[in-house]
Amino acid sequence: MAMPAEVRIVEVGPRDGLQNERVDIGTAAKVELIDRLSRTGLRSIEATAFVSPKWVPQMADAAEVLAGIERMAGIAYPVLVPNEQGYARAREAGADEVAVFTAASEAFNLRNTNASIAQSLERFAPVLERARTDGVRVRGYVSTVLGCPYQGEVPLADVVRVARSLHAMGCYEISLGDTIGVGTPAKARAMLRAVAAEVPMAALAIHFHDTYGQALANVLACLEDGVAVVDSAVSGAGGCPYAKGASGNVASEDVVYMLHGLGIRTGVDLPLLAETGRWLAGLLGRETGSKVGRALAA
Ligand code: HMG
Ligand code: MG
Repeated sequence: MAMPAEVRIVEVGPRDGLQNERVDIGTAAKVELIDRLSRTGLRSIEATAFVSPKWVPQMADAAEVLAGIERMAGIAYPVLVPNEQGYARAREAGADEVAVFTAASEAFNLRNTNASIAQSLERFAPVLERARTDGVRVRGYVSTVLGCPYQGEVPLADVVRVARSLHAMGCYEISLGDTIGVGTPAKARAMLRAVAAEVPMAALAIHFHDTYGQALANVLACLEDGVAVVDSAVSGAGGCPYAKGASGNVASEDVVYMLHGLGIRTGVDLPLLAETGRWLAGLLGRETGSKVGRALAA
């Protein structure tokens, strides 16, 4: 399949980025981050997570964040929900798109959500049912698609099975997550191909963490197979608190720079995005994790 002419970036910085940062930037700054991102031309911004605050204290202010942001027309602001309770909280706070998440590895899913993969899918059934009635779109995540910090190797068949289940349940898009960033390009492409044999490519997204510096190369390998939705985090922030050693997502600025260089449209204003990444890094007390963000400031 040819490379796409256009890619939709799903900006996960406010959620995946901030959930694993030691510095709490505070609710007002989270709101400002999302509002700044909304002005860059991004069309999907994952705003926060309605998970248990005991598990992820960084997302305890989810309702306040959602209430505070300026929602711009044409932008989706999905939020993570792990169960019906999270869905109810999200809806009360005005969410109109949610994302459910499970994994291809049992060991990881247990540590991340205190449930087996089958139990997590059972939890999602009522969420998807309510979402259908409410007209709420549901995205689905599969974590540990290229390796697990607890189990090690993850069989491709497990990734395919879980992705297929989420799609069959009604998730409009399945994001394939290399949670700990251990993947390399040929493996990433083989994984995407295996899933795309069962779930339409148009319903797939890729989600790479950059622990081993492979994320951008993995994105390119998957683009060459036709994937057209890429998750990334401004400034390369974050990681999963329940994935030992996981570092930040691939930086949105780096992905956008590469895409534009390839002649692929994103609709994103790169200098503005890079400025937002540097502003966020400043709040986190460090330099931006995006090489493009640093180069554009020089
Ligand atoms: P549990 O402890 O088994 O839940 O956690 P429970 O149902 O037994 O409830 C225990 C307590 O939590 C109760 O409160 C519930 O009310 C409360 P208590 O009676 O003790 O006061 N509770 C909630 N509170 C608020 N919101 C909720 C909620 N649910 C229960 N939604 C649970 C199970 C799933 C809740 C927990 O494990 C959890 O919240 N896990 C989330 C972990 C997480 O957010 N991880 C990071 C996101 S995933 C990720 O980063 C990967 C991704 O980026 C893709 C990739 O890179 O691979 C998406
Ligand atoms: Mg992630």
